[in-house]
Amino acid sequence: MSASPSASTPAPPALTLANPALLRARNFIGAQWRDAGRGARIDVLDPATDTVFASVADSDADDARAAADAAHAAFPGWSARPARERAQALKRWHALMLEHRDDLARLISTEQGKPLHEARGEVLYGASYVEWFAEEATRICGDIVEPAVTGRSMLVLREPVGVVAAITPWNFPLAMIARKIAPALAAGCTVVAKPAEDTPLTALALVYLAELAGMPAGVLNIVTASRANTPAVVDAWLADSRVRKITFTGSTPVGKHLARESAGTLKKLSLELGGNAPFIVFEDADLDAAVDGLMASKFRNGGQTCVCPNRVYVHEAVHDDFVERLARRVGALRVGPATEENAQIGPMINARAVDKIARHVEDAVALGARIVTGGERVRRDDGPNYYAPTVLIDATPAMALSCEETFGPVAPIFRFRHEDEVVRDANDTPFGLAAYFYSNDVRRIWRVARALETGIVGINEGAIASEAAPFGGVKESGYGREGSRHGLDDYMHTKYLCQGLLA
Ligand code: SIN
Repeated sequence: MSASPSASTPAPPALTLANPALLRARNFIGAQWRDAGRGARIDVLDPATDTVFASVADSDADDARAAADAAHAAFPGWSARPARERAQALKRWHALMLEHRDDLARLISTEQGKPLHEARGEVLYGASYVEWFAEEATRICGDIVEPAVTGRSMLVLREPVGVVAAITPWNFPLAMIARKIAPALAAGCTVVAKPAEDTPLTALALVYLAELAGMPAGVLNIVTASRANTPAVVDAWLADSRVRKITFTGSTPVGKHLARESAGTLKKLSLELGGNAPFIVFEDADLDAAVDGLMASKFRNGGQTCVCPNRVYVHEAVHDDFVERLARRVGALRVGPATEENAQIGPMINARAVDKIARHVEDAVALGARIVTGGERVRRDDGPNYYAPTVLIDATPAMALSCEETFGPVAPIFRFRHEDEVVRDANDTPFGLAAYFYSNDVRRIWRVARALETGIVGINEGAIASEAAPFGGVKESGYGREGSRHGLDDYMHTKYLCQGLLA
């Protein structure tokens, strides 16, 4: 996405939706769709062709403050509503998401590059968090504590923290924002949101559906901004003592910046940051299941997920067999524009992403890795952002792809001999989001699951995400959990009431 003044906003949207009203181009603040104060706009690109197909508002600090004003004003009313009413609004929003599933999927695919069938899955995935937290809203409860002295009553209440700023990434333009907004609203918080600069349209459509669902004015506000203006928007929220919480999914350096800069007003933080997931195949594993698991976890969204395996460790006894089975499957993946029904790997998000993948593969080969399949850019007449699904063998810890997230369709295979050695290597990273391993030995399963230093472990399973599970990391992958009954805690604080003179 690039910034441009509104006067030179290019061509009208090329995307056709069954409900064109979903294509929003302005901020939503206090129940009004408004241009950015300065009237500036930014282009939205289709990563399949690198061409502009829409534009949205390019907001600044004033727009961010206006959104916080609206959310702050709406908080007393929204938090005082009975939980059942908040739940009903979320359920209407959920129903509208399902009703518009095909349009939302088309928007996701066009601005993000995810194949259509995966984008339809993302709509269901994101909507599942909305339904889950609608149900959880009605189960919020505190404690009555047995007092230590007579004549007292002691109670523990759970209260919403206040205004929440949700800052979301481009790789799941719908699911990531849904799973932040839904628990916030369920808890009784109000929200200011800023989607990633590459993928603003899905988030705007989602907010439009929330408006249709009858969310009261100011409860949910959204501003979009270019890469250049994003710091001004975020800094305005960081400095604003009325914003009581920041929830962020993205890189570890940005997460650390938010932690440092929010210290001035001591905000509550949820940070879902980078990963460097190991995927371990032990000699006793079911190899077909392990290949299925790796295909599902590694090549979902073209490898552009924080939980996708970055390092694949295969025991030497099954190495060649596993690599042969994997390469057959990976070599058969169909690469093409995301909006083509049969595509399995779409374009990467932008040219910088493809350059990083190419750099990692070149570095690995220079340091001794061998390419089994892929290993090059896919040249297509219609767009430059494709990279071939790739399997590399003889990967080593010296390679960049061993310590940096590649965020692309590349599976580097490391050979190992002993369980303790592979667990040590798997943990030898500052990150700790997800890990996977395949084994049929029940003792080993418990041993390794406990030894892995991550927030999530897939055991004989590659598809781990679920609204019913706590998603989040340890170490420099962040803190806070999204989904499950724990997901509401991040948006609530605990208040203790002590009443005397009762004897
Ligand atoms: C992420 O990549 O940050 C989220 C992936 C998921 O929800 O599975």
